Amino acid sequence: MTRSEGAAPIETVGVIGAGVMGSGIAQILALAGCETIGFDISKEALDEAHKAVRSGRYGVEKSVELGKLTADEAEAALARLRFSDDFDETCQADLIVECVPERLDLKIKTFRDLDQRAPGHTILASNTSGFSIAGIAAATDRPERVIGWHWASPPVISRFAEIIRTKGTAEHTVETVRVLASRCGKNPVVIRDTAMHWGFVANRVYGAMIREASRCVDEGIASHDEVDQLMVDCFRWPVGPFGMTKGATSGWKKD
Ligand SMILES: NC(=O)c1ccc[n+]([C@@H]2O[C@H](COP(=O)([O-])OP(=O)(O)OC[C@H]3O[C@@H](n4cnc5c(N)ncnc54)[C@H](O)[C@@H]3O)[C@@H](O)[C@H]2O)c1
Repeated sequence: MTRSEGAAPIETVGVIGAGVMGSGIAQILALAGCETIGFDISKEALDEAHKAVRSGRYGVEKSVELGKLTADEAEAALARLRFSDDFDETCQADLIVECVPERLDLKIKTFRDLDQRAPGHTILASNTSGFSIAGIAAATDRPERVIGWHWASPPVISRFAEIIRTKGTAEHTVETVRVLASRCGKNPVVIRDTAMHWGFVANRVYGAMIREASRCVDEGIASHDEVDQLMVDCFRWPVGPFGMTKGATSGWKKD
């Protein structure tokens, strides 16, 4: 296990919300060697998550087929990963990654519940796309152990790891998550959430781009597909702005 000064060893992880992001994040954490439980309130989501990590487009069977994993590595990761409807059990972890839908009331309630049920040493990370991490941390009695860990879709493939620290986030929390993100094969960048400035880079810049792309469509200059094609050809992006939105929300499932 990779250690770094100030980083705590993370052996057990809980993932709250096993949808598009949570299921892939749980898969990656299990592949990185963590005993992982993915929790969801929906039985359908739990079943889907289970299927996705095994035989989905980015599941471990596909990785074995592509030669990215051996069959033994895939089976070992699956043995470390469970999906469960037991919230309390999921909370018994060194780190919890919250992946519930992007609603502030739900994030706040989830962090309150996590703060009450998780052991004192547990780090609570949010995969919010843009809510203030300081605001979420204020719902807990452990702001020093609250951090943003923003993943990109599909989490199994993307190397993106935007780690958002607040004024109250302890150095060891930052270091622990940074080291774990590297262990997951990601390329972590730590940024700051300040009282005056919103601590997200990727979605701030993406938001500006999608607003302008939508304006081009609203003004009748170009269709969605035409905007996408132009941006792909001009900047060598893998998809255009509208294709990105569609893919991210669907988990990049094939039509
Ligand atoms: N999809 C993306 O591209 C993307 C990228 C980065 C970050 N995010 C963020 O990740 C989070 C999750 O997004 P998603 O795309 O995976 O959504 P999703 O709708 O696919 O999954 C959310 C899951 O949370 C479950 N859920 C709802 N209430 C819950 C609760 N109280 N406790 C536990 N589970 C609950 C739902 O049943 C669902 O399975 C959001 O904050 C989103 O902004 C999404």
